[in-house]
Amino acid sequence: MKKNVYVHTFGCQMNVYDSDRMTAMLAGYGYSPIDRAEQADLIIVNTCSIREKAAQKAFSQLGRYRKLKIQNPKLIIAMGGCIAQQEAEEVFKRAPYLDLVFGTQNINRLPEFIRVLEETGGRIANVTPEAAYLASLDEPLAPSSSSVSAFVTIMQGCDNYCSFCVVPYLRGREASRKKASIVREIREMVARGVREVTLLGQNVNSYGRKEGAASFRDLLEEIAAIEGLRRIRFTTSHPRDLSDEVIELFGSMGELCRHIHLPVQSGSDRILSLMNRGYRLEDYLALIAKLRAASPEISITSDMIVGFPGEEDQDFSATLDLMDRVRFDGLFSFKYSERQGTAAVALPGKVGERIKGDRLRTLQSLQERHTWEKNRSWEGRLVEVLVERVSENNSEDLTGRTSTNRVVNFKGDPELIGSLVDVLIIRAYLHSLRGEISDDFVKSPDAALRCIPCHCGVPKSTPHSS
Ligand code: 5AD
Ligand code: SF4
Repeated sequence: MKKNVYVHTFGCQMNVYDSDRMTAMLAGYGYSPIDRAEQADLIIVNTCSIREKAAQKAFSQLGRYRKLKIQNPKLIIAMGGCIAQQEAEEVFKRAPYLDLVFGTQNINRLPEFIRVLEETGGRIANVTPEAAYLASLDEPLAPSSSSVSAFVTIMQGCDNYCSFCVVPYLRGREASRKKASIVREIREMVARGVREVTLLGQNVNSYGRKEGAASFRDLLEEIAAIEGLRRIRFTTSHPRDLSDEVIELFGSMGELCRHIHLPVQSGSDRILSLMNRGYRLEDYLALIAKLRAASPEISITSDMIVGFPGEEDQDFSATLDLMDRVRFDGLFSFKYSERQGTAAVALPGKVGERIKGDRLRTLQSLQERHTWEKNRSWEGRLVEVLVERVSENNSEDLTGRTSTNRVVNFKGDPELIGSLVDVLIIRAYLHSLRGEISDDFVKSPDAALRCIPCHCGVPKSTPHSS
């Protein structure tokens, strides 16, 4: 009998990749992915617990799925991801209608858990990390999506122990996948139409460091040589581990997108030290200078936390000052959220919610100004866009992104999906750019250039009439 699975993903890109793997694994067990929970036989909520708010959202969503279970008692509801890992059987108490709770390093056993639940019923909670989990990432899986842009996890876990962060406790110690297996996975993706990959890890710059087999630069060079792959992105970089040899690639590697997400967290050396980040403000600014020397147009985005324990007005001013000096292209900013088990729980000088809120608003309005200025500087310029899909807001529009990771919407033929096209930016908004296809030609996915109006394949450099 045909069965359907609906996966609801919260949190980071790592979770998006994990959800894709869950779907692909379950496809091998007879479950088809659907995008409506109402028709599902199995609902998986892939959770995030990095901040309290993310955790609350997951539980309120689960409450809604519970109503579906009342209508269909055979429905299996499962919870994976970081909350599941952290709270294990506790979540059974909080959500008694859950059938399965599985951890971040048990995803490889998901089909087995589902089979047991289907055959014998009952409930399963299993969050004990599996030694076989990392190796399971090397097993090829049936493709679950056919998008232009895809995520690829290159490493798991984190050894950094930033004092605010729960990730090292929930995703385990840092471990890198084998280069050969990553390259094979990307080759297979390219064969089914993927043109851009984003390499994922909590700290991609330390890829292969423990294993001593390959450096992150080696990996990037090998991936860039894959025929048919047009773009490479990666996230997240830790400022302490970003090496000169990787920075240089932003000036020399055509496939590497001119964007780096480089979380700084604070502009105050005192707070950075309490956060256990392992760098000072001047180190961070030196990296920014090197990145801009390698690629003057590189887009730089970051993460910032306000209201970390002990943060005084002058520390917050230092953060605003850093923003003025760097002028980030975009910023993800958060109120500090205390997470049980982390070192920061024991720090004195807790900052009140009202002050956190005020600081967040001040910071976000400064960033809006910077983002707006940056986006406006693209008006009137010709940019290369990788076309990803028909826009969700307007079926006549296509949506893609520039190398600097800006979303561009423009009118065009859906046949262009998967192609690199030159687009003239006519209007900037805060979260996107409006463009027009600049001339009649696009660069086809196969690197040849072809003419759009007549699809005749005449090279762009050869004027002709169709
Ligand atoms: N409180 C607030 N923000 C946090 N982050 C991680 N842990 C916390 C926390 N306890 C933010 C950091 C990190 C991003 C992914 O989430 O800025 O870079
Ligand atoms: Fe958390 Fe720090 Fe590791 Fe990022 S580098 S996942 S913030 S511990």
